[in-house]
Amino acid sequence: MDRNHEGDTDQLSPTTRRTFCAGLILSSAGLLIASTNANEVIAAQDSLVMYPPRKIEGAETLLPGSSLYFNYPTRNDPAVLLRSTDGEYRAYSRRCSHAGCSVDLDASSRCFQCPCHQGTFDARMGHVMFGPPRRPLDVIVLQVRAGGQLWAIGKSFRRDAEIITEAVGGVD
Ligand code: FES
Repeated sequence: MDRNHEGDTDQLSPTTRRTFCAGLILSSAGLLIASTNANEVIAAQDSLVMYPPRKIEGAETLLPGSSLYFNYPTRNDPAVLLRSTDGEYRAYSRRCSHAGCSVDLDASSRCFQCPCHQGTFDARMGHVMFGPPRRPLDVIVLQVRAGGQLWAIGKSFRRDAEIITEAVGGVD
């Protein structure tokens, strides 16, 4: 799919976007589930910044397939922890890469939706799927400590990336 299709997806109704989003995640599952480490979504060109570590309260009891909102690195920085059905953890900043609004997880479509300009990110990798954002959601770097405690220890500021519809060859 070429970049001309971005305009096509920007015109989709919210319902169509949700359907498209869920379908795309399912169709690309083989590609995306290959990652077994929460930090593998960090690419070499991303900028990694370490912050004072903070324990993510409640992470150890998070059930597979569930999510948990938290704040990191400050109380004013919304973030989300996701636990896949395989038990794998991932965390993202919830600050939209377009203009900084807080994105919300839509569990039914497995997407993050931005209320400000309808930007949409996939929940598995944080990649842009629709709208004006041109960067993925930033990744919160995680560390598992003794007793299964999960700590946030830094943030990877992600650079421009291919729109996910291009990475998986679009949907038909
Ligand atoms: S701030 Fe999220 S799409 Fe503009």
